[in-house]
Amino acid sequence: MDRGGWDGLAAWRDDRMGEEGDLWHRAIIDPTLLDVVGPVRGLAVLDLACGNGYLTRRWARAGATRAVGIERSRPTIANARRRERDRPSGAVFLERDAAHLRGLSSHSFDLVVANMALMDIRNAEGAIREASRVLRPAGRFVFSLNHPCFDVDERSGWLVEHARDPRGDRHEVVARKVARYRDERAVRVPWDVGPGRVGWTTSFHRTIPTYARWLRAAGLAITRLEEPVPTDEAVAKSPEGRFLLEIPLHLVVEARPLPGLRPDGAVRRRGSRTSEGTTTQTSPR
Ligand SMILES: C[S@@+](CC[C@H](N)C(=O)[O-])C[C@H]1O[C@@H](n2cnc3c(N)ncnc32)[C@H](O)[C@@H]1O
Repeated sequence: MDRGGWDGLAAWRDDRMGEEGDLWHRAIIDPTLLDVVGPVRGLAVLDLACGNGYLTRRWARAGATRAVGIERSRPTIANARRRERDRPSGAVFLERDAAHLRGLSSHSFDLVVANMALMDIRNAEGAIREASRVLRPAGRFVFSLNHPCFDVDERSGWLVEHARDPRGDRHEVVARKVARYRDERAVRVPWDVGPGRVGWTTSFHRTIPTYARWLRAAGLAITRLEEPVPTDEAVAKSPEGRFLLEIPLHLVVEARPLPGLRPDGAVRRRGSRTSEGTTTQTSPR
C-alpha cells in the first residue's frame, strides 16, 4: 500500500528526531508550536501523525491526563512504541489514518495537535473533520504546516543578491521566489538520507483559503496564527537560518470549535425557525 513514502524513511527519521526533534523542529518550528499549545497538565492530548512520538511523550511527561499518538506508517509507529517501551512516559501509540480515527470517541480530547503533517496527508480535509469530531467543545486544534505562501516545494526557492547601501557597504538582499501558488497538487519531496541517497515522500500543496475552508466546514474557527521565527541555534547551524529571520517557511495555527458554527460550516441563526420547527441554516457570508 502507498503510504506516501514514509515507511521507507521511518528509521532515518527516528534517528534524526530522537527525543527532542531535529534542528528544524527543535530550533524553528517547535518553540512556536509549544508556545501556542501552552501547558498540557490535566489535558487529554491527541498527536495526529505523530512520527516517532517525541512530542506525544513530551506531553505525557508534562502531565497530560492522556497522551495518544496516531500514525499511518507502521514502521514509524513501531519506533514510537519502542521508544515508549524503553523509556515509559505513559503515552499510547495507535496505527491509524488521521482521516479515520477508529475507536477514538467524539468529544474526548482537550487538545489535538498535528505538527508538520497536514500537508503530508492526502485527505487532510477528513483529518481536520476527525480532529474536530474528537475535540471537546472547549478544546483546541493546533497544527503547523510548511507555509503555503512561501514553501511551494519544487516551485519555490531563495533568491539571494548583494547590494550596496548608501554608505557603499555591501549587504545581502534575501527574497523568496514562488511560482504557481494557486496550483494545488501532489508533489514529490526529496529527503537527503545519506551520501548520494535520496528518499521521496508525497506532499500536497494547498492554498491558505483551502485550509481555512476545511476548518470552517469542520466547525472550527482560527483563533491564532503564527509564523515561527528561528532561534539563535537555527541561525547559527542552518544555512537557511538567517533567511528565515526575514521570510518564514512555516505557519502555526490554532483553531477552536465555534459555538453556533455547525460541522458543515453553516451558521445557526439564534432563534430562527423554519416552518417545520427546525433551526434555519443561513449562509454565513
Ligand atoms: C513530516 S512527518 C511529521 C511527523 C511528526 N508530526 C513530526 O513532526 O515529527 C509527516 C507524518 O505524517 C504521517 N502521515 C501521512 N499521512 C497520514 C495519514 N493519512 N494518517 C496518519 N499519519 C499520516 C507520515 O507517516 C509522517 O510520519
